[in-house]
Amino acid sequence: MTVALIVAAGSGERLRAGQPKALVELAGRPLVQWSIDALQALDSLERIVVALPPGVPAPAGVTAVEGGAVRSDSVRRALAAAGACELVLVQDAARPLLTPELAGAVIAALEADAEADAAIAAVPVTDTIKAVDVLGAVSETLDRSRLWAVQTPQVFRRSALERALAVDPEQLAQATDDAWLVERAGGRVIVVPASDENLKVTTPMDLRMAELLIQARLRQRP
Ligand code: CTP
Ligand code: MG
Repeated sequence: MTVALIVAAGSGERLRAGQPKALVELAGRPLVQWSIDALQALDSLERIVVALPPGVPAPAGVTAVEGGAVRSDSVRRALAAAGACELVLVQDAARPLLTPELAGAVIAALEADAEADAAIAAVPVTDTIKAVDVLGAVSETLDRSRLWAVQTPQVFRRSALERALAVDPEQLAQATDDAWLVERAGGRVIVVPASDENLKVTTPMDLRMAELLIQARLRQRP
């Protein structure tokens, strides 16, 4: 049994929209609704829990909880409302181009690998990535052939995610994704090739890009 958690409680400071990012309109609907719709199209999910900013009403068909101060805290609060399940899918509301096919593929990858604690959507990096020191000088050029940019959805064995989240608040605040917490705890995380269309809306430019991609998708499958 799989439960999906959508974290949507961030303030969206970098988007500068004057309201929480999850509520910003994208092709006529709130950003968070696109992830809800994609996950509701999957038959295999037991429940969808959404972590929202305080005072935001629950969208139809989901369990809503109030999010926390940092992302992992929102994950932890949503997990507490998940009920019984073996697998937990975590999705950022900031990735509205999620497809049911991608979510299904990440769940299937974890189900197929008994040794793995988590499976995460990711794409090979296309830019050359350099590490830069505090003085602004390059200290290292990383081997691009081994680098993947990770996305959501990320799917976890519930026990592994619970263990990973049981760390002190400082470590929790540092985590930009939950898989990192599982890696730190010695867990095995596998990647599932995704599409670069599954972009994260962080800046106003990302929102424009997402709007173009969603409109194109709607023209193909209205
Ligand atoms: N998130 C959350 N609770 C928080 C912080 C973030 O649920 N306390 C969620 C966001 O809603 C988003 C996802 O985590 O769906 C990824 O975070 P990010 O893209 O950083 O969103 P924001 O924190 O809202 O944006 P910013 O950092 O620009 O303020
Ligand atoms: Mg943030």
